[in-house]
Amino acid sequence: MNILRALCLAVMSFAFSQSAFALQALQITERQPGHLESWIALSILITSVLTAWFLNQNAPKVRVFGTILAALGCFAIAAWFLFYVLGTGFLENPKPNQTPLDSAKPALLWIQAMMALVSGVALLAVAVKQSKNTEILELSAANEPDRYGRVSRVLHWTIAILFLALIPMGIFASIIPEGTEYRVEYYVVHKTIGVTVLALVLVRLFWNRQSKRPALDASLTSKERKLAHLAHIALYVMMIMIPITGFIMTSFHGAPTFFFAWELEPLWGFSKTGTIVWGMLHKYLLPYLLYIVLGAHILGALKHQLIDKHTNAFKRMVS
Ligand code: HEM
Ligand code: HEM
Repeated sequence: MNILRALCLAVMSFAFSQSAFALQALQITERQPGHLESWIALSILITSVLTAWFLNQNAPKVRVFGTILAALGCFAIAAWFLFYVLGTGFLENPKPNQTPLDSAKPALLWIQAMMALVSGVALLAVAVKQSKNTEILELSAANEPDRYGRVSRVLHWTIAILFLALIPMGIFASIIPEGTEYRVEYYVVHKTIGVTVLALVLVRLFWNRQSKRPALDASLTSKERKLAHLAHIALYVMMIMIPITGFIMTSFHGAPTFFFAWELEPLWGFSKTGTIVWGMLHKYLLPYLLYIVLGAHILGALKHQLIDKHTNAFKRMVS
């Protein structure tokens, strides 16, 4: 177990040191010969998969470790904002606004960073509580009638972590003034992880067909049941539509889509109207809708657990 922990810590330190702060060191307009930015994207991906994997292991101590990793991920996002983003001065002097809504971006980044900080502290408190639990989690790969199996859980948490990280990353990328030296690197990481999320969502949809998803929790009232069902459908639609609209917007803008070291050239010619229409979807409509649906999803799950005291509800997805 100690060897396992040491190995995890090494991977984790590598991933964090490569990801949040390494972008700061890049001072280039073109992609690096060694594709450092692809390694950064890979580190973020590996860290997210490992966190989701540890969160759903049988041994209680490994699950505690997963919770600590999740807390460290939240702190990394908050630290990236407080110690790096604020220092760039782009919040005061961003790329010129394209719509009045763009002036909300500094406030959005502040809110998201503070939420990451609070979530990190809350997760550490959960880890302390969790460490008193010695119960072995008997979990099969397939879904069961009243709880999600390991495959669905790992997919849910990997996608959730990557999705949540893409939001501040996308907002920050969009305010970096044109011509800033490392600007392209943020797009490489954002697009690479965005495409990866789409691929993972397709795997998840395939898995849902192979292994029937559990029915909604029996303790929900019929109104809560309808809302939860609607929220789940809306989240699936957004998990598919947000990366697809990003890809189409990028192509209409005449820019390549990056996937690690690979570059896919735009599939069609530049179009201002196309960029505006698909940009409205990717940059405004879908993210603002996402804030509402995701807020309802997370608050609903927390209410279920903390206010209604349905202590088994949360455990259907993570224990
Ligand atoms: C960190 C915050 C999150 C928490 C606490 C959370 C919690 C949960 C829980 C407890 C469930 C199981 C619901 C049930 O018992 O039926 C669930 C399901 C689900 N979550 Fe999340 N979630 C989070 C983030 C996300 C994100 C970011 C997304 C997508 C972008 C997402 C998408 C979904 C979907 C689609 C389901 C339904 C799964 C299915 O039946 O296939 N969640 N979540
Ligand atoms: C789940 C996947 C994704 C999420 C959650 C996401 C989210 C976001 C968000 C919140 C923004 C900031 C919008 C703004 O405030 O202006 C953004 C910007 C951006 N996204 Fe994504 N994105 C995803 C996938 C993609 C993909 C796959 C691509 C392209 C292949 C892409 C390309 C872009 C570009 C180019 C911008 C910056 C636009 C600008 O400079 O104004 N995104 N993204």
